[in-house]
Amino acid sequence: MTKGIKIVTIGGGSSYTPELVEGFIKRYNELPIRELWLVDIPAGEEKLNIVGALAKRMVEKAGLPIEVHLTLDRRAALKDADFVTTQFRVGLLDARAKDERIPLKYNVIGQETNGPGGLFKGLRTIPVILDICKDMEELCPNAWLVNFTNPAGMVTEAVLRYSNIKKVVGLCNVPVGIKMQIAEMFNVEADRIEVDFAGLNHMVFGLNVYLDGVSILDEVIEKMANPDNSVSMKNIAALGWEPEFLKALNAVPCPYHRYYFKTKEMLEEELEAAATKGTRAEVVKQVEKELFELYKDPELAIKPAQLEKRGGAYYSDAACNLINSIYNDKRDIQPVNTRNNGAIASIPDDSAVEVNCIITKEGPKPVSVGDLPVAVRGLVQQIKSFERVSAEAAVTGDYNTALLAMTINPLVPSDKVAKEILDEMLEAHKEYLPQFFQTVEA
Ligand code: G6P
Repeated sequence: MTKGIKIVTIGGGSSYTPELVEGFIKRYNELPIRELWLVDIPAGEEKLNIVGALAKRMVEKAGLPIEVHLTLDRRAALKDADFVTTQFRVGLLDARAKDERIPLKYNVIGQETNGPGGLFKGLRTIPVILDICKDMEELCPNAWLVNFTNPAGMVTEAVLRYSNIKKVVGLCNVPVGIKMQIAEMFNVEADRIEVDFAGLNHMVFGLNVYLDGVSILDEVIEKMANPDNSVSMKNIAALGWEPEFLKALNAVPCPYHRYYFKTKEMLEEELEAAATKGTRAEVVKQVEKELFELYKDPELAIKPAQLEKRGGAYYSDAACNLINSIYNDKRDIQPVNTRNNGAIASIPDDSAVEVNCIITKEGPKPVSVGDLPVAVRGLVQQIKSFERVSAEAAVTGDYNTALLAMTINPLVPSDKVAKEILDEMLEAHKEYLPQFFQTVEA
């Protein structure tokens, strides 16, 4: 990497790209990027051109010698990359809207990464990420794959299990979001707060919280009992928690735990939203439209504040900090998705977990937490089983395995309802699920 770093971003036309570019610009002194390749598919070309032009203006304004390349040719971009970041959405927001709306017809949570929606996002995404891994093996075998594509936990699990790429890290902004909201509650700078994160992606707990190294878990739980401080993300209704539940849990739940511990209320909220303002994908479509109008402005050369309306705001901090720490062997602690290696006792060693890690030039080294509290251990294991069976279904295209994944998901009430939802969703997403529809030649 002596001549500077080559980064390839797949799904480069995403509205989140300016975040990433801003993050790289801010860290240029430590992270000398020579080339940034933004890659997309023909359906994303218009967005790629708009966001790519903004990326070029941002780099130029910063006066940095980073070459920004835009391409639809993934393989050409991947050649000799040092880091490959992935942030694509198979089927675009229309597919997400189906993931959200179809389960609601059966009174089941409709969500991007949880329940039936999470399963189908995985079924569409995993074959594509495994294809990217194959290209990487051939074209940039030493590169790191930094994946933000959802469902990030399931995708990391699939890469670990079904590809030869071992240098993979899954990233999410939930931990950084929790930490920032706790810092706000205490009115202190975020770098004075530390959280012991452990669990799975979108199923992570803060087992302890420290301010300047001293535990403040009790105070955090006290504050979180106030509905104004319940800790959420832009994409999840911030319904408050029962104070006594939080006290007994004695850990900080993540915003997504509402789907499991407040299923009824979240379902009611989703049904109401679907009938009025629209599902999250439908709302996000509007936000994206506005963002791309802003991005088109040739005078704009910074990341617009409106991007913070997206649930994934501050992704760049997680992504750029990770890449920076790998590149510079920083050995700082960051919560990422990686191979468990015994860090969480009741999860298999070879499964992906989201846990605090020491980030070295050889990648993340998970910090051992012993085990999760008994009250949540079973749920976390169940979601891990769901992720594994879903990944298997995505790879094999086997109907029965997909039905098994859907049925064991805690948000789905029965095998019968699972089958009804599965059939409707398979049909709705047919175009993006060739593995389920190809007939085998005799
Ligand atoms: C959260 C999650 C991300 C997800 C995002 C969706 O921040 O951590 O994994 O991509 O929300 O946000 P959106 O604005 O697309 O609803």
